Amino acid sequence: AAMTSGAARKRLDMNAYRERLEARLGKSREMMRVVLNKAKSNPKRVALAEGSNEKMIRAAYQMQEEGIAEPILVGKTTTILRKAEELGLDFDPTIANPRDGEWDHYVDRLYELRQRKGITKSEAEELVRRDSNYFASVMVEVGDADAMLTGLTHHYPSALRPPLQIIGTADDANYAAGVYMMTFKNRVVFCADTTVNLDPDEEILAEITKHTAELARQFNVEPRAALLSYSNFGSVTNEGTRKPRDAAALLQDDPAVDFPVDGEMQADTALVEDILEGTYDFAELDDPANLLVFPNLEAGNIGYKLLQRLGGAEAIGPMLVGMDKPVHVLQRGDEVKDIVNLAATAVVDAQEE
Ligand code: ACO
Repeated sequence: AAMTSGAARKRLDMNAYRERLEARLGKSREMMRVVLNKAKSNPKRVALAEGSNEKMIRAAYQMQEEGIAEPILVGKTTTILRKAEELGLDFDPTIANPRDGEWDHYVDRLYELRQRKGITKSEAEELVRRDSNYFASVMVEVGDADAMLTGLTHHYPSALRPPLQIIGTADDANYAAGVYMMTFKNRVVFCADTTVNLDPDEEILAEITKHTAELARQFNVEPRAALLSYSNFGSVTNEGTRKPRDAAALLQDDPAVDFPVDGEMQADTALVEDILEGTYDFAELDDPANLLVFPNLEAGNIGYKLLQRLGGAEAIGPMLVGMDKPVHVLQRGDEVKDIVNLAATAVVDAQEE
């Protein structure tokens, strides 16, 4: 009998677990559905820098089949076609092969952009032909593609550098930042910056907040932003707590900011209504924040991973904000669904260009 009840309990646990998982995935699917539907309404050309990668090929197939994007696989034609066949994918992918073909205008453009940054003509030639992150970045910069995805087989900083150098930031931006959308059962929070800026000052924090708010709106989420710290509204004053405090003040003084924002505050203050309404009823936030801006990269990167692994959130990202054209740098080990999701957000972004 003890065995039976133990097994039954285990089954119950499993059922409860499955229900929680389903609820969480339900929320993330619901969030992604908004973006996937927008993407399908006007699919854009997305350059996949790692076009010979099997996950990229599978993702390209799915994007094309579902009409989410028009993928361009960057890589060797024979390799891509052979792999697509091995994977049993019946499609005729668009391929750009850097080693074979007329790409002199890409070399010229790269040289033009970087000649005063120490790149010679022959180096430009080498980068376009041999480094698909440079190739894809130039492809987007000259307008032959609307967006770019990379990162699956590279370290994050090395995949990020070519787009930063070639595509650069938007007119209203000086800094790119990496955002994760975390979905819980009944809740969504956007976390920034989780991947780019090591030690942002108040100007950078303010900029990251604005760009993350724009991103949230692409998912039909009305932003409520908190500049996070280990201090609540001046309870600890030093250089570290000053930056998020000053960033919040900059944003509150900015007439272009049309969403509630406050800080510096601790994470529980940002997320718990009773604390916001009780101790800190003067705060600009009446409802819990859904946009969490971390004071530095250590906090942001560690924070979102804790939410994912202990809090059981589903993570969508990292979505790069602040760039002149949509670029997303994936993490090593990301799955096909992550690639498709990021492609969809890039398409929606490109639609607004
Ligand atoms: N936003 C926009 N552009 C930038 C930024 C930024 N935050 N930082 C640098 N750039 C530009 C520079 O202006 C430069 O442009 P230029 O050559 O036209 O003048 C170009 O990018 C390259 O700059 P470098 O100085 O060569 O690059 P740097 O060594 O500063 O590297 C990088 C930039 C890669 C973003 C670096 O800051 C970095 O490594 N950040 C942390 C990345 C990381 O490790 N993330 C966490 C792990 S990843 C994960 O968990 C997914």
